[in-house]
Amino acid sequence: MHETLDEIGGRHGTDKRSDQNNFLNFYDRFLGPLREKPVKLLEIGVLDGDSVRTWQDYFRNGKIVGVDIDPGTKAHEQDRIRIEILDQSKVQDLDLLVAKGPFDIIVDDGSHVWTHQILTFQKLIGTVTPGGFYIVEDLDTSYGKYVPHYHGGATESAAAYLQRLARLVVGQRVLNLTEEPDAFQQSLFPRIDFITFYRGAALVRLKE
Ligand SMILES: C[S@@+](CC[C@H](N)C(=O)[O-])C[C@H]1O[C@@H](n2cnc3c(N)ncnc32)[C@H](O)[C@@H]1O
Repeated sequence: MHETLDEIGGRHGTDKRSDQNNFLNFYDRFLGPLREKPVKLLEIGVLDGDSVRTWQDYFRNGKIVGVDIDPGTKAHEQDRIRIEILDQSKVQDLDLLVAKGPFDIIVDDGSHVWTHQILTFQKLIGTVTPGGFYIVEDLDTSYGKYVPHYHGGATESAAAYLQRLARLVVGQRVLNLTEEPDAFQQSLFPRIDFITFYRGAALVRLKE
């Protein structure tokens, strides 16, 4: 019997596990069918390497690319884990990541600043393969006490940005899409299978 994603995360000590942020049981429901596939997963935010090691063990045929602004995280490279030292707030760094795609799964667990979350999504969602997933973590930085620290100068939060995209996905049969002002979202939504929101996270799945 395989370890569950949450059991693997607990063994590696990532705060995505069920006694902390409790993201892994949620992800397992969607990522389970990809578990044995040779997936390429990109995670922004490496810190102590706990989550990239979790992904490496869960996707035993997968390749993991971790991205972090901190050069010290390069030390977490091993076996099927590569670490890129890049800044998700910089367009040119995100372009370097685009060149390393496509990716089957992208997880944004980096700075959690709204402007960075939105820019990273806009730059990288196009590199996700059909049937693949894009996850934004710690999206609760869009609300309450986190707002002053995480808005990054944006007038729209990352959660509001994704909810606006969800409006196009849900309402596409009745909305007048030619009048939608956001050209990027207008071009993206036909590729989206679904968007789901969870406590502290959002997950976007692309159509096969
Ligand atoms: C929440 S931690 C990642 C935790 C890790 N994913 C885990 O679950 O064990 C966030 C990481 O994002 C990195 N970070 C912060 N700002 C960044 C930026 N602008 N670009 C890339 N990485 C950034 C930090 O250095 C830190 O290591």
